[in-house]
Amino acid sequence: MKEEIKKILNEAKKYLQQQESLFGDEVTLPKSESESEGKIQQVNEKEYGVDPTWVNSKTLDELESKIKNCVKCPLGKTRTNFVFGVGNPKSEIVFIGEAPGAEEDLQGEPFVGRAGQLLNHLLASVGFRRDEVYICNVLKCRPPGNRDPQPSEIEACGPYLVKQLEIIKPKLIVSLGRFPAQMLLKTNATLSSLRGQVYEWRGIKMIITYHPAAVLRNQQWKRPLIEDLRKAREILYQK
Ligand code: URA
Repeated sequence: MKEEIKKILNEAKKYLQQQESLFGDEVTLPKSESESEGKIQQVNEKEYGVDPTWVNSKTLDELESKIKNCVKCPLGKTRTNFVFGVGNPKSEIVFIGEAPGAEEDLQGEPFVGRAGQLLNHLLASVGFRRDEVYICNVLKCRPPGNRDPQPSEIEACGPYLVKQLEIIKPKLIVSLGRFPAQMLLKTNATLSSLRGQVYEWRGIKMIITYHPAAVLRNQQWKRPLIEDLRKAREILYQK
């Protein structure tokens, strides 16, 4: 046994001497893949105007200040303002839209254009005040011409939404249109197949309804949207 240990130690000594002759006294241990991936991501995040410690943010203000200069995707270069979110950071309900439009991009606040005015009106009609709920979008920067968010943009920006939800810890999420639900539930299902059920995302209830902009285009969706908002109130206040 002693002999075996001696042999192993000799081998180890030879190996270390060989390493020393190659690399001096700097010992380099092979990094695990995830460790080096994490480093690369951190470096990239700095280059993309994001403070890599954003993932540890404890408050919405902290998170916003760390990510607001993000240029991870090309929308960061064309935006006027980064549209983080608005409302009560302790809200039990979070409304999530798709992405800022022209007016939101100018003002830096979600849902302040025509769709936003309709949303405020519909929220009030069922007893929600805009300043007591929280409102944000999947994308924080405006897609040119208000086109649909692209998968690569959702992939880049989606983690910020997830962090917002982790900080707020609402009881209920309302997906305005299909994009928030598709992202959070990792599905390609259509809005009409998703609507009408209560889902769960990480223990938080979620419903999916029409986007107010869709109602502006087609009034027939106004009633179902109001019904869904009523349902949201019921879910929130049920004992
Ligand atoms: N549409 C959205 O999805 N979000 C906004 O903030 C405005 C319009």
